[in-house]
Amino acid sequence: MRQYTTFRQLEIFDAIAHFKSFTKASEALYLTQPTVSMQMKKLSDMVGVPLIEQVGKKIHLTEDGRELARATREVFDIMDRFSMSVAERQGLKQGQLRLMAISTASYFAPRLLGEFAKLYPGIEVSLRVTNKEQVLASIANNLDDLYLLGQPPLDMEVVVTPIMDNPIVVLAAPDHPLAKAKNIPLKALVNEPWLMREVGSGTRTAIERRFAEHEIALRPRMELGSNEAIKQAILSGLGISALSQHTLVMHQPEQFAVLDVEGFPIHRQWYAVYPAGRQLSVVARAFLDYLLARAEPIA
Ligand code: PGA
Repeated sequence: MRQYTTFRQLEIFDAIAHFKSFTKASEALYLTQPTVSMQMKKLSDMVGVPLIEQVGKKIHLTEDGRELARATREVFDIMDRFSMSVAERQGLKQGQLRLMAISTASYFAPRLLGEFAKLYPGIEVSLRVTNKEQVLASIANNLDDLYLLGQPPLDMEVVVTPIMDNPIVVLAAPDHPLAKAKNIPLKALVNEPWLMREVGSGTRTAIERRFAEHEIALRPRMELGSNEAIKQAILSGLGISALSQHTLVMHQPEQFAVLDVEGFPIHRQWYAVYPAGRQLSVVARAFLDYLLARAEPIA
C-alpha cells in the first residue's frame, strides 16, 4: 500500500525546523517526545533520505531537510490563506456591523448602510445617530465598529478615512431677495437674520470659523437644535442659514435657494473613524472598502 506524508508529520517537522529541538517542538505541539521522534522517523523513511542530523544535543537540518522545510512553509502558508478566506466569506455571510453617526450624517448613513446590507443580506446592521458628545464617548469606550463624523476627534488615537465631501452651503427661501444675486460679499450676511445650529454642532463650528476668518461677527437671530428645524425656519421666512448640502437630499432642488456667498461653500469632509487599537472586523473592513469604492456623490 502506498504511504503518504501526513499533515501532522509536516507540522512536527516544521516545529523541529523552527526550534531546532525535539523537546521544544514536542512541548509546542503538546505531544510526547517519543511520538515526535517516531513521526520524524516515519517521515524520513517515507521521503527516503535523512532530514535531520543530530550532533550531540544539537539538531541540524540536512540539505534535503532544508528543502522540505521550505516546501512545508509554503504548504502551511497556502493553508493559512485558505482558512482566512473561508473565515472572511463566513464573516460576510453572518457578521454584524454596528455603526454610529453624528446627527447630520443621518441624511446619508442609512442609505449607505441599506445598499451595503443588500450586498450582504446575512449581515446584521445597526445604526445609531446621535450627538457629538455621545459619539466621542462611544469611541473612547470602543463600543461600535465604525463612526461617521464631520470632524475627527483631535485628542484620541483614531484611524481616520475621508469618505466623501461635505460642502456647507448658505440656504435661503427661494423668494429671498439675494436668491439670484452673484458673488454676495460675506459682510452682506450680517444684516440677514441668521439661524444657527446648537453649540457643539460641527456645522456651527465650521460657519463660525469662516466668519471669524473674515473678521465678521455673526449674531444669530435664533438657535435651533436640528437641521430640519433650521430648514423649516428658513422656509417660514424666519431667516437664512448654512447647512451641509447633504441635508437637501430629500428635497426638490428648487425648494431652497443656495446663495452664492463669498467663502462658501465651506469644503468639509465626512470621515469614517475607529479607535486606533481596534482590530476591524471583516464586516467593518468590507463596509469601509465599500464606502471608498463608491464613485458617485451622495447629494
Ligand atoms: P453636526 O454635523 O453639525 O450635526 O454636528 C457633524 C459635522 O458636520 O461635523
